[in-house]
Order: sequence, then structure tokens, then C-alpha cells
Amino acid sequence: MQKVTTAVFPVAGLGTRFLPATKASPKEMLPVVDKPLIQYAVEEAVQAGCTQMVFITGKSKRAIEDHFDKAPELEAELEQRGKTALLEMVREIVPKNVSCIYVRQPEALGLGHAVLMAKPVVGDAPFAVILADDLIDADPPCLTQMVELHAARQCSVLAVQQVPREETSKYGVIRNEPLEPRLHRIAAMVEKPRPADAPSNLAVVGRYILTARVFHHLERIGKGSGGEIQLTDGIAQLLNEETALAWEFHGTRYDCGSKLGYLMANYVFGMRHPEVGAEFAAFATGMARGKAG
Ligand code: UTP
Repeated sequence: MQKVTTAVFPVAGLGTRFLPATKASPKEMLPVVDKPLIQYAVEEAVQAGCTQMVFITGKSKRAIEDHFDKAPELEAELEQRGKTALLEMVREIVPKNVSCIYVRQPEALGLGHAVLMAKPVVGDAPFAVILADDLIDADPPCLTQMVELHAARQCSVLAVQQVPREETSKYGVIRNEPLEPRLHRIAAMVEKPRPADAPSNLAVVGRYILTARVFHHLERIGKGSGGEIQLTDGIAQLLNEETALAWEFHGTRYDCGSKLGYLMANYVFGMRHPEVGAEFAAFATGMARGKAG
């Protein structure tokens, strides 16, 4: 039985919807309250049992490398000031048994191209892909739900969510054959279909477990929707050879690549933050009353 131990994080996109914040720093470094999106994603992968993190980086890779690297000066300063809780927090960003690998995507040619960059590191094993700008609030975490399914079925598993019909053109959308509650066999997949052409309202979100065979197809497909090499097109080819499943995950997804989703995530995570949650909730309630009155 093959286990999923590698997680791939494509972080080389241009993040145009978040300019100017993303001019010199990747959008995956945007914090929700006090933690960057990419750290939530790495924590989710670690919880799901992954021990090798592969970051597909672009022009502004420094911030991400630095974030997951040791920070001797900062650690010395915190130690000297007796800030032991903060020191522990900084030291534990990457657990000891976890390794980080950085692969450069020379040009932002699309998500499928970014995932293909991981091929030499991944080899033949099944692997996870996490898009950190899809922040998923779930217990157990979304990737853990998917890893359990993969362990039982030994095939590719994609996280999906029902979306309003008018929004299908923002997503990869599947044609599904229902198997069990929340579980579907993927019969076909299409990237960003117009609502009238969408095969269902089940949209793929930023969590995938894929077999290594997908690389074979990513190497061969050309440019797709938006002139980019699309991961959806590679997986669509894979479906001719292998079964792939779609899992309607338990949990709430915040599209932190959009301003609205990002603000919503900050609101929800802010309300339950141990340090500022109570005060923030009081503030939010006051604001809501003010609006009503
Ligand atoms: P998006 O479709 O959100 O594109 O990419 P983007 O460029 O990051 O953001 P906008 O739309 O311009 O605001 C989905 C994911 O794929 C990665 C991104 O970093 C993001 O995590 N990606 C995309 C790459 O790593 N390389 C690419 O060539 C394209």
C-alpha cells in the first residue's frame, strides 16, 4: 500500500488579485490574523502525515524560504528577552522530522506546469497538492479526510465543493457519478466552464491527492483555458487510465486569493483567536449594532 508523504505547494502564481500586496511578496505569505496562509497549509500537510514539503516558487521565493528556515538572530533575541513561548513557536514552525525542498518554476505558465516542476522530487509515489490560498477550516483537516480515503481506495482523490451555477467559470468542474454520500467517481473534468456548459456544480478546490502518472500527462498537454497549462487538463487525461474520486469535504473553505474570502477568513479566525478573540468579537458586535441602529 502506498502512503502519501510528500506535499507540493505551488506558490509561484502572480497573485494579481491582491496587488499591490503581492508585488514583492507571494500571496501565500499573507497572514490570516498572525499566521501566513502557507503555514496553515504546511500544518495541514504535517497533520495528514506528510514529511516532505515541496514548494514550487517563483520570482519572490525569498520570503517563503526564510519563513521555513532557521532564524538564529531572532531566536537569540527572543531567548535573551526571556520570551520563551514565542521562541518555542518560532522553533516549531517546521517539525524536526519534516524536510522542505524548493523548486523554481522559471515562468508562471500555469498550475499544471507548476505541479510538473515537482516530478524529479516526487518520483513514483502518490503525492498531495495544496493551494494555500484556499484556507479550509475543518476538523479533521481536509487533507487528513482525503488521505484516509486514499488509504482505503488507492487512487487519486480531489476535494470538491458545491458552488452556485453562476460561479462555475471560476473553477475546474467535474462530471460526477455518485458513489456514496459526499463521494463521487470523476467521469470528466473541465476547467472554468460557462454555467450553461458546466457538467455539474461540483467545483474542485485547492486540495488534491494525485498518482505520479499525472506527470506523464502534464508533460504532454498544451496550453488550456487562459493560455495556461492547467492541472485540470492533466487530470482529465488521467481519467482515461485510472479511477479518480471527488470528496465533498467536511469543513468551510475561504478563498483567500480573493479579497472578500480573505477578509472573511480573518473575521472568523480573529473571533476565536486566543489573544484577541474576545475583544474582537465585542468590537464586531458593536459594529453590527451600530449598522442596525
Ligand atoms: P491562481 O489561479 O490563484 O493564480 O493560482 P495566481 O496567479 O496565484 O493569482 P491571481 O489569479 O493572479 O490573483 C492558483 C495557485 O497556483 C499557483 C498559485 O501560486 C496559486 O497557489 N500557481 C499558478 C503557480 O504556482 N504557478 C503558476 O504558473 C500559476
